[in-house]
Amino acid sequence: MNDFIQEILIDEQEIDGICSKIAADISRDYANSQKKLLLLCILKGSVVFMGELMKKITVPVEIDFMKVSSYGSGTSSAGKINILLDLHRGDLEDIDIVIVEDIIDSGRTLSHLTEYLKLKGAHSVRTCTLLDKPSRREVNFNADYVGKIIPDKFVIGFGLDYDEKYRALPFVGVLRPEYVKN
Ligand code: IMP
Ligand code: MG
Repeated sequence: MNDFIQEILIDEQEIDGICSKIAADISRDYANSQKKLLLLCILKGSVVFMGELMKKITVPVEIDFMKVSSYGSGTSSAGKINILLDLHRGDLEDIDIVIVEDIIDSGRTLSHLTEYLKLKGAHSVRTCTLLDKPSRREVNFNADYVGKIIPDKFVIGFGLDYDEKYRALPFVGVLRPEYVKN
């Protein structure tokens, strides 16, 4: 195993099962919708999860991307959300959005984005996350589709980074504390 990994929390096989389950749930829930389904990937951490999910969803989907900043460069949240790349569409009243997120920590990013997209006029907004750390919540928020609940540990891989590193790992692992800069 890589020396910067303390423990593998979710291996490739388990991740595949999680993606299949969420894709099946989304496919079922939107099978009879009259609106267009948009998977909205929150850059950059969700890009790997989104790629897996969209291949497994069996109803037609469109994709788009937003970029927000909540974390700076460390392992703690800045507590403030900035929109760095916005969603520009003229037909939001005809769109069901599912926001695709890598992990929910304080809950601020998804709670802010959900409200923002509803105010922008989306027909509906739901949220989907690969990982959830409910013990870290600072605002009352729950996602509609949750892959796996994890303990309060800083995780990397499958899109998740520490200081822009480790995103390409095919599993989710815990970063050894000695690799975290203070
Ligand atoms: P929230 O707004 O506090 O819920 O922050 C969610 C964002 O924080 C995620 O999209 C990640 O970018 C980042 N984040 C939270 N926990 C972790 C972690 O354990 N590893 C990597 N990024 C994390
Ligand atoms: Mg993120």
